[in-house]
Amino acid sequence: MSTSSAVPIQIARRRFGETRRRDRWWIQPLAVFAGLSTFIVYATWAAFQGEYYTSGPYLSPFYSPEIFGASPHSWFGQKPAAWPAWLPFSPALIILPIPGFFRLTCYYYRGAYYKAFWADPPSCTVGEPRSSYLGENSFPLILQNAHRYMLFITIGVLTILAGDVWKAMWFTDPATGTASFGIGLGTIVLAANTALLGAYLLGCHSMRHLAGGCVDQLTRAPLGARAYACVSCLNRRHMAWAWASLFSVGFADLYVRLCSMGVWSDVRIM
Ligand code: FES
Repeated sequence: MSTSSAVPIQIARRRFGETRRRDRWWIQPLAVFAGLSTFIVYATWAAFQGEYYTSGPYLSPFYSPEIFGASPHSWFGQKPAAWPAWLPFSPALIILPIPGFFRLTCYYYRGAYYKAFWADPPSCTVGEPRSSYLGENSFPLILQNAHRYMLFITIGVLTILAGDVWKAMWFTDPATGTASFGIGLGTIVLAANTALLGAYLLGCHSMRHLAGGCVDQLTRAPLGARAYACVSCLNRRHMAWAWASLFSVGFADLYVRLCSMGVWSDVRIM
């Protein structure tokens, strides 16, 4: 008869940054830090401007939907008279928290900024600065679980952006005041941005659950199976869509802004 005894194993804690890895593991978190920081600084600056966000039929995606505002795109006209004087006003500040919070809680971005901004850990098998691990079960990280609910609200915002692309195809003649169909470079910039945002949003992990979770057996629901396959296909490149759409939404705002300021001239294609 054989006997066995448990041998306690001591796991040595690595110091911050300590690793046996020989590859350049720090390049990715550094690139993520630089990319996200640049976007956050630009988006915050642009959101507080409160001007130069429309040009002809174009509306910056940072400012859409324009709930209150001075432009013709505004849904309910000027900012309410009851708006507190001490509170800065910009149409973007009303709407931008929705896509902002959606991205903040995205499963891909979480993994990226936990590494790049909090070094928690900086990369796989690299020592981290903390000894405790609370996970996402307590405040504030428990709020990350709101991602699936934000998905529904963000789908609404994306639908409005698709409507903006349609509106960006109607150019008003200043002399007669009549609108005629056309396509400008700005139309293409807004359309490409909406397409990339759609690919990012439809490839969301929660969307995958939504598409596949409605049916127990996908083979019995061909439509559900097709939707699941489609979402899974986008999900496989979720990181690429996340970065492409982040760049495109920033560029779309910049394009409208510079056209509005007269720095760039929109090119009319049709
Ligand atoms: Fe990235 Fe939902 S997981 S958008």
